[in-house]
Amino acid sequence: MANLFDKALKIGYNLYITRIRKRILEHTREKLSSRLGFIFLSAGCAIGLGNIWRFPYITGRYGGGAFVLIYLFFLVVLGIPVVVMEYSIGRRSQRSIARAFDVLEKKGQKWHLFSYAAMAGNYLLVMFYTTISGWMLAYFLKMVSGSFAGLDQAGVADTFSALQQDPIQSVLFMAAIILIGIVICSLGLQNGVERITKIMMTCLLAVMLLLVVRSVTLPNALEGLKFYLIPDFDKLREAGIYNAIYAAMGQACFTLSAGMGGMMIFGSYLDKKRTLGGEALNVMLLDTFVAITAGLIIFPACFAYGVPADQGPGLVFVTLPNIFNAMPFGTLWGSLFFIFMNFAAITTIVAVFENIMAFSMDLFHWTRKRACIVNFVLITLLSIPCALGFSILSGIQPFGAGSAILDLEDFLVSNVIMPLGAVLIILFCTTKRGWGWQHFIEEANTGKGFHFPQWTRFYISYVLPCAVLFIFIMGIIDKFA
Ligand code: ALA
Repeated sequence: MANLFDKALKIGYNLYITRIRKRILEHTREKLSSRLGFIFLSAGCAIGLGNIWRFPYITGRYGGGAFVLIYLFFLVVLGIPVVVMEYSIGRRSQRSIARAFDVLEKKGQKWHLFSYAAMAGNYLLVMFYTTISGWMLAYFLKMVSGSFAGLDQAGVADTFSALQQDPIQSVLFMAAIILIGIVICSLGLQNGVERITKIMMTCLLAVMLLLVVRSVTLPNALEGLKFYLIPDFDKLREAGIYNAIYAAMGQACFTLSAGMGGMMIFGSYLDKKRTLGGEALNVMLLDTFVAITAGLIIFPACFAYGVPADQGPGLVFVTLPNIFNAMPFGTLWGSLFFIFMNFAAITTIVAVFENIMAFSMDLFHWTRKRACIVNFVLITLLSIPCALGFSILSGIQPFGAGSAILDLEDFLVSNVIMPLGAVLIILFCTTKRGWGWQHFIEEANTGKGFHFPQWTRFYISYVLPCAVLFIFIMGIIDKFA
């Protein structure tokens, strides 16, 4: 009898311990509530100013359709593999990039040193992203209140310069954007980040469809479509072929937030039900759809109203209000456009902030609340140089006359940290001295859905890192020569 009692006690005790262990494991990492939440969150991180502000102006600068082709090429041959690798590292380690390498590397290895550069990259990204997003917020308010109504080209350009050169407005709008992002993150992963991103992404897609119909039915829209969609390689040669290829590679990394752990964090919130190649493909398709659609909105409108498409970073800010002014119901279309820009920017900000919060939680075991408060102060302080880069700090011109702190921060993130980070992530996932191909492919292909093909191994292990390094070196030479 006593024996039986002992046995029952042992079984009960074991069951209890197993349940506790399971609970601890379940609670070590928050999870997203649905697959749609994961896709929208990842796509929300990818879709942002990169698609709607950066992609059209770079495409305009490098001559249209030919550049678009090279960009699409890089999305497939570089973007997808790196995103799948980031998801795999995140899902297996259950950590953000701040700790993922420590979990997966073998004893004595130094891969985790890259975490510091990647974390710096995430902070650098928000250091300029918040300023541009702040301008978007200001533009939305100006549009709704009718401040652009009746202004000519010069009037709109003056409004933009006045906004950029006003240190108080720039800092206040930048801080407002940071506050919005932090408040959403502070509500929690499922209640704040996932729920609000789902709503914003749905609205964004709906508004885009409305705007594209409006833009492609404008008079002379066909000329814009031709510029955008028909490749002209002579224009590409004029802009400098390596420069263009380098820019396309940087844009492919930027738009997918790939190469510095932007996607790794979402892998760490993911269960094992689906393969990671399939999820990466979905996110890339959504991201590309938004970028291509942004071009379909902007270029036909530029050609319809005779506005130059190769303006550079001011394209959206200086030209579009003119276009909306010349349209019937322009205030309505303009407000819709800028609210859509704000949604795109905020979903990215929330995703990158979530990553940054996870750094503090992974590294120092802080609560979400503490991570939010400390990072609000830190990110606001770090964003000030860019916000003041067009006024008080306009004397700092890192790339020569006319350039600003924003250009330096953008260059460091998109053209240095992201491509070099992508190479390191590839090497980590393919060499025996890192995590290794077998571990990577096993994690990537766990679950239902598209299996990442084994036959890509040679290409990904050897050709891809060499090609990225080559383009990086040639691009740097071309840029600074
Ligand atoms: N992936 C983000 C964007 O495209 C950084 O804006």
